[in-house]
Formats: sequence, structure tokens, C-alpha cells
Amino acid sequence: MFSRGTAKFFKSAVGSASKRFSTESNAKASASNLLFKASVATAVGSGISLWYLNKNTAHADMQADGLHPPHYNFPHTTLLGTFDHASIRRGFQVFKEVCAACHSLDHVHWRNLIDVAFTEDEVKELAAEYEYEDGPNDQGEMFMRPGKPSDPFPKPYPNEEAARAANAGAFPPDLSLITKARHGGADYVYSLITGYCDPPAGVEIREGLNYNPYFPGGAIAMAQNIFDGVVEYEDGTPATASQIAKDVTTFLGWASEPELDDRKKLGVKAVLLFSTLTALSLWIKRNRFSSLKNRKIVFNPPSNWNTPTKK
Ligand code: HEC
Repeated sequence: MFSRGTAKFFKSAVGSASKRFSTESNAKASASNLLFKASVATAVGSGISLWYLNKNTAHADMQADGLHPPHYNFPHTTLLGTFDHASIRRGFQVFKEVCAACHSLDHVHWRNLIDVAFTEDEVKELAAEYEYEDGPNDQGEMFMRPGKPSDPFPKPYPNEEAARAANAGAFPPDLSLITKARHGGADYVYSLITGYCDPPAGVEIREGLNYNPYFPGGAIAMAQNIFDGVVEYEDGTPATASQIAKDVTTFLGWASEPELDDRKKLGVKAVLLFSTLTALSLWIKRNRFSSLKNRKIVFNPPSNWNTPTKK
């Protein structure tokens, strides 16, 4: 009785469903299908138009925004590239001998350079070249002592006011995070310090400022300070202006992101590990589901399928 009743119920359900699908709702289905296609086409179309419009906006006001720097292939800015550590070492020398006269490097401590570009003994010697205020001693007085690896890189000026007073009112920013703080990063810093040129006809530069097309506004208080031979490298690398600029930019890139090498190494490990785990779990899922997915459910109608139920 039960099985017959259920069978009947199924039959009528299937019958009415197939009827519904086959007749008037066929038209409804094709209409909604059309609507779906039209909305996809509209979305794709408007996406392409927006991209095209965005690509072609004439927004670049070179004078106000600064010239966009070209892309340079610094090894550390490529996908899997790491820092050129010989370049960091030379760049530190440039920073110390040229830029440190005006710029601070607050977030870099001497010890950060150990095993990056210098050995521990070299760092101790470098730090000891500078005097730091310490104290108070037993008499309650502050005293000067040679630097230690735990000291920060020395500041050129005691405060912002002193820095401005020495630079015609302009403040030389701290360079610890400069490649992260400027649009274009390392490309910008390199272009800026090598990009000095004569102002184009009609552009007046105030006394004390210098023309640099990469600096927003075009007039920068910092004068050109990278020239051929401005430093002498201990490793014999020819000290051309572009080499010096590349090295100091690499050094500043390291100062901004000292964790970059480790981060990339960890990233590669994580991608390898997680893609293996994903592949493995997909395989296990297929394995586990294979018995379920291969199962065939067959309904064998009883012989009296079409006979009306006796009361
Ligand atoms: C004589 C002092 C002096 C020296 C030396 C110097 N700078 Fe500057 N620098 C300045 C001043 C002043 C400014 C601020 C400029 C401004 O705001 O117009 C500045 C600004 C900058 C900026 C920021 C520009 C911006 O987008 O705001 C960078 C980057 C920079 N200097 C890099 C360097 C590097 C690299 C060196 C060493 C090769 C160096 N500077 C050496 C004085 C100096």
C-alpha cells in the first residue's frame, strides 16, 4: 500500500513538474535567460568603457604633480628578487658621506646593519666614530660616550626648527621610510636625485630653489648633490652619478623594508606549501566522494504501476 501510494505521488509530481517546465514557463525561462545575458553584456561593456576612459584621462599636470618616474629594474622591486647587499653597503657609504649632512634616518640603528651589509666588528667601529649623549652618571650629569651598535643613526639637526633654519626654510624629511612614503618608491628617489636640469623656457625658479621635474611643483629646496666621483668606493666600483644614485636608493629601499628578503622567502614557502595542501585536499575530496558520486539510484516501478489502487 505504502509503496504504491508513494509511487503514485512521485509519478504525479514528476508529471506535473515536467508539464510545468515544458509549457508556459519555457517562455519565462528563456526571457530570464535573455535578461541574464543582457545584464552580463552591459556589465562587461561598461567595465571596458570605464577602463578605456580611465586609461585616457588627461589628468597629468606635470608641473603640479611632478613627472612620473620611469621604471627601473631594481632587483628588490621585482617579484622574487632580493636586495643587492653589496649595493646596500655602498649605498650606506653614500648616505653617510652625502645625505646624512641634512637627512636623519631615525628608524635605523647601527645593529640593523649587522649581517646585512657589515660584520659586527665593522658596525662597532662605525658606531664608535660618533659621540652620543648618555647619563646621568653618579654626579647626576650627562656625559658623552662613543656610539654602540644599539644607538640610532645620528641626527644632523637637534630639531625641525634647526633643520629648517639651515635649509632656507625647507625641512629635509627623515629618509628611513622614504621609498614607502612616496609614489613611485625607489624609482622616484632615483629619478629625483639624478633628475636635476635647467628649468624649461618660461618657468621661473625662486632664488634658493632648484628645478627638478620629478618633484611635485618642480621647485625643490634640496640642491643637486650626486655627481660623478662624489664618493670613492672601497670595492673599486666606478663611482658614476648613476651608480651612486642606484646604491643610495637601494640602501634607502632596505631601510624602508628591511624584512623584504625574509618576507619573499616566506611567501615562496607559503605558496608552495598551501598549493600542495590544496591539491592534496582536492584529491582526498575526490577520493572520498568517488563512492558517492558513482552511485546510481534506480527506481524499478512495481508491475501494477498503472493499476488504480483498490479501496
Ligand atoms: C644640503 C642638504 C641636503 C643634502 C646633502 C641632501 N638633501 Fe635631500 N633634501 C634636502 C631638503 C632641504 C629637502 C626638502 C626639499 C623640499 O621640500 O623642497 C630634501 C628632500 C629630499 C627628499 C624628499 C623629496 C620629496 O619628495 O619630498 C629626498 C627623497 C631626498 N631629499 C633624498 C636625498 C638623498 C638620497 C640625499 C643624498 C644623496 C640627499 N637628499 C641629500 C636637503 C638635503
